Amino acid sequence: SVAPILTGLKNDCATPLPVLRHVADEMTADMRAGLAIDGGSELKMILSYVDSLPSGNEKGLFYALDLGGTNFRVLRVQLGGKDERVIATEFEQVSIPQELMFGTSEELFDFIANGLAKFAEKEGGKFHIPQGRKREIGFTFSFPVKQISIDSGILIKWTKGFAVSGTAGKDVVACLNEAMERRGLDMRVSALVNDTVGTLAGARYWDDDVMVAVILGTGTNACYVERMDAIPKLQGHVSPSARTIINTEWGAFSKGLPLTKFDKDMDAASINPGEQIFEKTISGMYLGEIVRRVLYKMAEAGALFGDSNSDKLSKPFVLGTPDLCAMQQDNSENLEVVGSILSDVVGVKLYCHCMVKSDLTARKMVVDVCDTIVKRGGRLAGAGIVGILHKMEEDSRGLIFGKRTVVAMDGGLYEHYPQYRSYLCDAVTELLGVEKSKNLVIEHTKDGSGIGAALLAATNSKYGHDF
Ligand code: BG6
Ligand code: GLC
Repeated sequence: SVAPILTGLKNDCATPLPVLRHVADEMTADMRAGLAIDGGSELKMILSYVDSLPSGNEKGLFYALDLGGTNFRVLRVQLGGKDERVIATEFEQVSIPQELMFGTSEELFDFIANGLAKFAEKEGGKFHIPQGRKREIGFTFSFPVKQISIDSGILIKWTKGFAVSGTAGKDVVACLNEAMERRGLDMRVSALVNDTVGTLAGARYWDDDVMVAVILGTGTNACYVERMDAIPKLQGHVSPSARTIINTEWGAFSKGLPLTKFDKDMDAASINPGEQIFEKTISGMYLGEIVRRVLYKMAEAGALFGDSNSDKLSKPFVLGTPDLCAMQQDNSENLEVVGSILSDVVGVKLYCHCMVKSDLTARKMVVDVCDTIVKRGGRLAGAGIVGILHKMEEDSRGLIFGKRTVVAMDGGLYEHYPQYRSYLCDAVTELLGVEKSKNLVIEHTKDGSGIGAALLAATNSKYGHDF
């Protein structure tokens, strides 16, 4: 029968306070280990080479490319300096064609360069760029990259279902430059940034209290402002006041997570088994798939969907996280939305108009499964954030919780899933207690990482800041 499967799932996914505390502590410990030496922990704790954040004085015309979420975006940002700030932003976005995710490096970078070239053509002589100067680009590339400098970095590996051949181990800016050359495009990348870093820079432009940025979308990651003298792997002499941004790549974290057989099976069947376990437990790409696996097991057990079990449900990724979200928003008496998603997406028909009682029971159970997986995800994301805040607090002697501190958040999962958001916030408050939570602001910064990258291109402009 189905009930024991649900009870077992709830037990295995439970995130009471001690579990959350343990996860937060392990996150803090792993951050320290990753800062001590390269390869010291699952968390890569990547140096961003962003040593100064946008001040508001940045001026001029800059482009940004944003690759790594559901969409590929090209932006043109006009910065007006202290008084005017961002004067205008224009952008175009397309979803990334599925076949490019499994194609060759050349194909992917040609796609990016083509998108950029077409967009740049539309500038149409509107802006004056001084002679001898190239248009500069901030490149948000949302994958683990070992930065070599602010404008170069080597792809460590693909994540989030990308499996492009020939890029891992290469400098992604060189790959883009080659594609721009093939397209006859004469522009230069002045800043290569992770999406978390772009989000932090974009949010910080408006608010000096932003110290952490988190992405909860297809994938997940976090970055934060770190004291350079708290990074042993830097080794050289650094001034005690110097700060930099660290890209944690926390998607790779795995310690102390409450995992189930469904998670382990999904991981084993994935294109990167054993990797990105935190990401696979809490991010948008995977929540729907975990639920699908649970429902399939329940259907196999025979009792959940009666005779209407269909082959569709056996297909990986047929149920998306937006489907879970829609089902959880269903306030209708008979859970009509749940019924229609089950029938459209999953091929399971539970006729409610003839109101067989067990059909409604089944729908409720489906919502319960969604809630169990989403609650675990949101609460663990909250524990991760608290792990970062604790690390910062320990090293800054009261400067985090003693004043207003902002965590900038972006990504489709956080933006569109109210239950996930509130589970996350509840966990943060439970862990920090009411007093410390008072100074903490968790703020949605929509699409900040494109503008953030443009700002960082300006801050790191090859031509100085004087035009
Ligand atoms: C966007 C950022 O706003 O959020 C991207 O600009 C980032 O760089 C993304 O990857 C996350 O998006 P998604 O589609 O994964 O929710
Ligand atoms: C993946 C990437 C990481 C990115 C995150 C959010 O975890 O490895 O670089 O920041 O997704 O997009």
